[in-house]
Amino acid sequence: MCGIVGYIGEDAVQEVLMYGLEKLEYRGYDSAGIFIFDQKNQGHLFKEKGNIAHLRKHIDFNIPANVGIGHTRWATHGVPSVMNAHPHQSADGRFTLVHNGVIENYLEIKDTYLGNIEGKGNTDSEIVVQLIARLADKQNLSGKEAFREALKIVKGSYAFALLDANTPNVLYAAKNKSPLLIGLGEDFNVVVSDAMASLQQTNQYVEIEDGEMITLTKDSVVIETIDGEKVIRDSYQAELDASDFEKGTHSSYMIKEIEEQAAVIRKIVQHYQDAEGKLSIPTKLRKNLMDADRIHIVACGTSYNAGWVGKPLLENIAEIPVEVHLSSEFSYAPPLISGKPFFIFLTQSGETADSRQVLKMIRKWDYPTLTITNVAGSTLSREANDTLLLHAGPEIAVASTKAYTAQITVLAVVADVLAREKGLEKKINMIPELGIAANAIETIINEKNRISELANLYLEDTRNAFYIGRGLDYFVSMESALKLKEISYIQTEGFAAGELKHGTIALVEEGTPVLAFITQESSANHTRGNIEEVRSRGAKTCVIAMEGLALKTDQFILPKTHPILAPLVAVIPGQLLAYYATLQRGYDVDKPRNLAKSVTVE
Ligand code: G6P
Repeated sequence: MCGIVGYIGEDAVQEVLMYGLEKLEYRGYDSAGIFIFDQKNQGHLFKEKGNIAHLRKHIDFNIPANVGIGHTRWATHGVPSVMNAHPHQSADGRFTLVHNGVIENYLEIKDTYLGNIEGKGNTDSEIVVQLIARLADKQNLSGKEAFREALKIVKGSYAFALLDANTPNVLYAAKNKSPLLIGLGEDFNVVVSDAMASLQQTNQYVEIEDGEMITLTKDSVVIETIDGEKVIRDSYQAELDASDFEKGTHSSYMIKEIEEQAAVIRKIVQHYQDAEGKLSIPTKLRKNLMDADRIHIVACGTSYNAGWVGKPLLENIAEIPVEVHLSSEFSYAPPLISGKPFFIFLTQSGETADSRQVLKMIRKWDYPTLTITNVAGSTLSREANDTLLLHAGPEIAVASTKAYTAQITVLAVVADVLAREKGLEKKINMIPELGIAANAIETIINEKNRISELANLYLEDTRNAFYIGRGLDYFVSMESALKLKEISYIQTEGFAAGELKHGTIALVEEGTPVLAFITQESSANHTRGNIEEVRSRGAKTCVIAMEGLALKTDQFILPKTHPILAPLVAVIPGQLLAYYATLQRGYDVDKPRNLAKSVTVE
């Protein structure tokens, strides 16, 4: 989703901003732009529809300039276009602004404050820069004071970076609900929506909280509340390294991240092992979980699919009831809450607005919360009572792969800890079983050419496809279908194998690919029956079955894994099929159309 980078210092700002925007590309965007002040304080604006490489061609890198702001835009209000791309400027040309988030009262602001000032585009963001200019003009305010007054008026989510032609050596910023960080350096400072945009320059950061505004020069940082109270906050060192974000010898981030999954599982096990070699989580968190009579997992997208795998893991191993909820639906259909609920927020980015909305609601109700995320210091991590990190390393490809398996692994750690506490540890020997799952993943990766062949055979020129399975295999079907549709654009549904015959089987015709998972003994025969049902109606069936349950005629055999951990292994062919089908169709596996990595609007 949208990204921000602002810099004030001594380096050539065009390169700094473009480096930052390139690092933010993975979040998804459809236009981009930068605004710079040259050394004579003249402003220069460059913005383009399309990708950063296209914008790069239009930038004049010869202008000596050391102050600027840049933005990648993922359209919400107004189509992707040059006019709607950020930065936006006030009609008088004095103020230039970039914005992430959604301004809820922008129409009201327009009617109340802007009179006959006409904007150039249709974005809510442009209204804000006009408002700042209007307030400065009408009330004879400094740029900073006009910004402050504007912040009192705007409602919604925002991260802003603002430049004022009257004070070209100062960069202003503010945040509410959307992520924004200050990066500190020798003779420079930056504001970024994601630390990775500035890791080349610094690994020293200061968090900005909701409702705060920032004044940066190249050698000073002032944080204050919108009401003008000064805030003192320590900086922290980001654990990440710029090299974590490189794809090295891999042709795409997606394949790199798929291949990293075995190592990620081992790293999680290592990280959560205590001195006695047992899996462990912080004591207070463990006690809160032990006190709960029900766990609610709240998530979106791939994380939601991982939540479904977490449910049987926790229920079977730790014998605690679990419900799984879509964040975006939670407020509209809230569950009946038991006496002692515990809420787990699963989110690779830790920034998803839908999930954050639910977290805020649960906090008001004062129930214990845990965020399981890949990003230390992310918003949901800061706002929940506890955090467990995925330790998966940065996930850059938009289609989530290693975060999914990492989320399941961390949930398995939690299940194991609770089981031991309840005297149920005999059910599974978790550490060696996770090791077996990691080895199985490596075996599949070594056979990836076979999956490439299957992608070619089954998905080459199809318009639609189905994944089917029962129980855990159904949950893997949901995730495999999501992977396939989001990057290859093949319309794919993940279906409960037994449910297909109750309606959707009407869509199966000659040649429709139906890919089936069989990893559970209890459902294997029934799923085989469903495979026959679709085959006899013309479907091209591809069976991915686990050793011990597989037939010679099956298309892919998964190495044997503990059944409750089978999704960790079964999803790998699902991810690889999506990957190869996308390559074969000539699409970009890392940056699918219309999607964003981190969705910070509701
Ligand atoms: C976006 C991404 C998905 C992700 C979902 C939830 O839609 O494209 O890959 O699963 O957000 O993100 P989260 O960061 O909360 O896991």
